[in-house]
Amino acid sequence: MKAAVLYEYGQPLVVEEVELDPPKAGEVHVRVAAAGVCRSDLHVMKGEAPQPLPIVLGHEASAVVLDVGEGVTSVKPGDRIITPFVSSCGRCTSCLTGHANLCDAHSATAGAMFDGTTRLHKGEQRIHHMSKVTCFAQEAIVPDKSCVILPDDVPMPQAALIGCCVTTGVGAATESVQVRPGSTVAVIGCGGVGVNVLQGARLQNAGKIIAVDINEGALEFAMRFGATHTVNPTQQDPVQRVKEITNGLGVDYAFEVFGSAETVTNAFNMVRKGGTAVVVGLAPADELAGVDTVALVRQEKTLKGSYYGGARPAVDMPSIIEMYRSGKINIDDLITRQYKLDDINEAYADLERGVVGRGVITEF
Ligand code: APR
Ligand code: ZN
Repeated sequence: MKAAVLYEYGQPLVVEEVELDPPKAGEVHVRVAAAGVCRSDLHVMKGEAPQPLPIVLGHEASAVVLDVGEGVTSVKPGDRIITPFVSSCGRCTSCLTGHANLCDAHSATAGAMFDGTTRLHKGEQRIHHMSKVTCFAQEAIVPDKSCVILPDDVPMPQAALIGCCVTTGVGAATESVQVRPGSTVAVIGCGGVGVNVLQGARLQNAGKIIAVDINEGALEFAMRFGATHTVNPTQQDPVQRVKEITNGLGVDYAFEVFGSAETVTNAFNMVRKGGTAVVVGLAPADELAGVDTVALVRQEKTLKGSYYGGARPAVDMPSIIEMYRSGKINIDDLITRQYKLDDINEAYADLERGVVGRGVITEF
């Protein structure tokens, strides 16, 4: 089957034929239906978020079940599913304490399946699995435990986005912190994930929702997803401007949704006394962000990380699906371009160029 393989950091993905072994016990063989173009894969391509190489990337997916391995009863051939990018084992401390997004068994087997081995190879060369999803490919093997079955009326591209950016973004504002009604919110970085933080803040009935982005197009786009104000850091100091908009106080919540030390520091600096800065973006692995430790104490600020929107996919994805079906979450307008798997490198060039909205691979 065809897959896009990353052999070396900084090099384009190679779209080529690779072999996929059959599913083992507790695994599911799927045909990928749609795969989102997310910045997290770009972090891997650039070497900013190291993974074992070679690897098939792609972690935002919807798929159709083709066949199942031994003992699998949760899904059957023909089921339409979302394949979450953190698979929960259901048995570790994180899973058992309601933090399926932090599953210990999942992170201990990064780049492989739960048993530590891979199903992908090219001849003798083993190829690793991004997040146990590997959706930049025609087919994939995924763990059965976390598959979320889709109702018939949810289209596959929209479902794929629930696999990462919608759940990550909405969950940051509704689960990781529960934004209070009427409170003030800033979102730094309004791409695929950031606009979903805006939607999450709107769902929580936030008051002022300030979109911060260096791309004017992204700011315009953000207004359709709940932003009430926009700030462009290339034109004005974002911390200063956010304070002006909030009567000199700063915001109750600032979300960092790009991934750099500078934007993390800005998020921390723009929250008011008692406020919370939530970091969603993945900064390069070796980058440290500066934090004003006196303000941390004397202003009782909170600095918090949010991974996968704090989601327990089995519980939270069905609710997100319901909010999509009832029009409370807009995913349709988020999808601005569709690609063929063959054009994956072009899709990532568009993401880097700042073409607004989410791209989705829909032809394999
Ligand atoms: N200040 C504000 N916004 C910025 C800045 C900056 N200094 N630099 C870039 N941006 C904006 C970009 O213009 C873009 O609109 O951040 C946005 C990033 O959006 P995407 O490229 O679509 O990235 P996305 O897929 O949303 O991921 C964002 O979340 O899950 C993590 O790994 C992911 O770190 C990444 C982050
Ligand atoms: Zn993602």
